[in-house]
Amino acid sequence: MNPVWPCDTVALDEENGALVIIDQTLLPGEFTLLSLTTLDEFVDAIKTLKVRGAPAIGVAAAMGLYLAVKKLGLERLTEIKAALAASRPTAVNLFWALDRMEQAALAHKEAPIDALYREALRIRDEDIKSCRAIGRHGLTLLQDGSGILTHCNAGSLAAVRYGTALAPIYAGLEQGVSFKVYADETRPLLQGARLTAFELQAAGVDTTLICDNMVSHVLQKGLVQAVLAGSDRIAANGDVCNKIGTSGVAILAKHYGVPFYVCAPSSTIDFETENGAGIPIEERGGDEVTELWYHTRMAPAGVKVFNPAFDVTPNEMVTAIVTEHGVARPPFTQSLTKMRRRDILK
Ligand code: MRU
Repeated sequence: MNPVWPCDTVALDEENGALVIIDQTLLPGEFTLLSLTTLDEFVDAIKTLKVRGAPAIGVAAAMGLYLAVKKLGLERLTEIKAALAASRPTAVNLFWALDRMEQAALAHKEAPIDALYREALRIRDEDIKSCRAIGRHGLTLLQDGSGILTHCNAGSLAAVRYGTALAPIYAGLEQGVSFKVYADETRPLLQGARLTAFELQAAGVDTTLICDNMVSHVLQKGLVQAVLAGSDRIAANGDVCNKIGTSGVAILAKHYGVPFYVCAPSSTIDFETENGAGIPIEERGGDEVTELWYHTRMAPAGVKVFNPAFDVTPNEMVTAIVTEHGVARPPFTQSLTKMRRRDILK
């Protein structure tokens, strides 16, 4: 295998029974493709963020479930699904994709493995199509030459090919519309510094990296005309759960009168969860704060660490939610439901 970027972030290697992903923990220093073949490897890759970002996690889980069931047998589907579902708690795309896979097997009892294969590829293809559409809709909200602030990584590396929050920027590139992008570094795992800066630079986008605590200053100076963020789960009322730090960015954006746009496929909307308080927030190990990325430990041994991986932005801070179906505006309980109804009727 000759690893070259850009390539699909998640892929199925049918011939070798493998899930192929980019090891995102090594970026930007090393670009390595991993070829994973066991259930333990699939679960570990999601847990340790080798593959990450809500849509990419969903696609990886779907492909992983197909490969594991093919290898271990259909009678173990429930156990395999549970193992994959336990890998991370917040991104609803994971559970959505696993449910779709299970339904596909149940609906095709005569050839369930074929059905799982087809469904995994359908989930991948839908992701590519949805992100393209998000890019098109999102671009209508932006002015040529604007400064755009983004948090974490909701780009190609977080989906299969185009990303969500970065999709309007890529759509702009194709049409000769350009932006000046400010990428928050995104403590503690530095998805902004390591991943967003990497993929935007590779695409030739004007990119400036800032520390998370510089957001207020950058907004105050008028360098940013719009904020674009992704999401791991959007509640029915439009509360948006995304990478830790997003809610602070949204509050600052509102203070300075800068629109805060959330870009996500409809599979990220969890209509079963009424509001943000019902969204489970992943907590990760304290070593991500005190050690990882530092040459030597930078906090006293034994200090207590609180490391929530996500936070919830209240819907009143959100200017609009962009999905593959279009742009939803407040009040979101109504606009998201309307969007869903139109989607079901299609
Ligand atoms: O912990 P991560 O890196 O998986 O968190 C990713 C994010 O918070 C993204 O913004 C979100 O999943 C949307 S990705 C299109």
